[in-house]
Amino acid sequence: MTGFVIAVDGPAASGKGTIATRLGGLYSLPVLDTGLLYRAVGVLTERAGRDPDDPAAAAEVARALRAEQLEDPVFRTRGAGEAASRVAVHTGVREALLAFQRAFAAQPGGAVLDGRDIGTVIAPGAPAKLFVTATPEVRAERRWKQLKGQGEDVAFEDILADIRKRDARDGGRDTAPMRQAEDAVLLDTSDLSIDRAFDAARRIVEAARARWEAQSFSS
Ligand code: CDP
Repeated sequence: MTGFVIAVDGPAASGKGTIATRLGGLYSLPVLDTGLLYRAVGVLTERAGRDPDDPAAAAEVARALRAEQLEDPVFRTRGAGEAASRVAVHTGVREALLAFQRAFAAQPGGAVLDGRDIGTVIAPGAPAKLFVTATPEVRAERRWKQLKGQGEDVAFEDILADIRKRDARDGGRDTAPMRQAEDAVLLDTSDLSIDRAFDAARRIVEAARARWEAQSFSS
């Protein structure tokens, strides 16, 4: 039997990162923010003077990526999110990042992973799956506040445009597009504070955990 894996997918600024982190704390599970991998590849491709839209260049950077490189705060910026979504369309990039993510999910004690394709591609057998979403306007507001807090001076309208563009690109790509897995539970956080959103997520995961434990004991 493998460990208890929680897959948290959803679009930008839906609350999935915070929910994943808190679930990790609650169940004492390691958490992987898989978006950070794509952000790192996007930024490091640009930094090498190469084009994020070039599949071969981005895949080369993805293959060379090491876990120790993921700490850079520049990966949290608006530009990094855009670069991430551009490199994330390339099959070669996704393949290069696959083994690391699968190994993280396969840890004997279990794990929490958040991203776009965790429940569909990375950990399709995960016993607990959430698809966290919210309206583009609500997500843009959250991201705008977050970026302002980080000292980035950006107009709300520009962030909303970013969010819409990223949703279309992430949902429309051929390889591992963002979509809700059939067995994932949809959690719309549009009208929820982060505490209430976490509470709803916790209840969904508790139910999944009870099913998983019952199955584990009977097999
Ligand atoms: O924090 P935010 O939701 O804005 O973005 P993120 O989760 O850090 O992901 C940045 C970008 O990486 C996304 O827009 C996707 O294009 C890509 N990504 C992906 O394709 N697959 C994942 N599992 C995670 C992120």
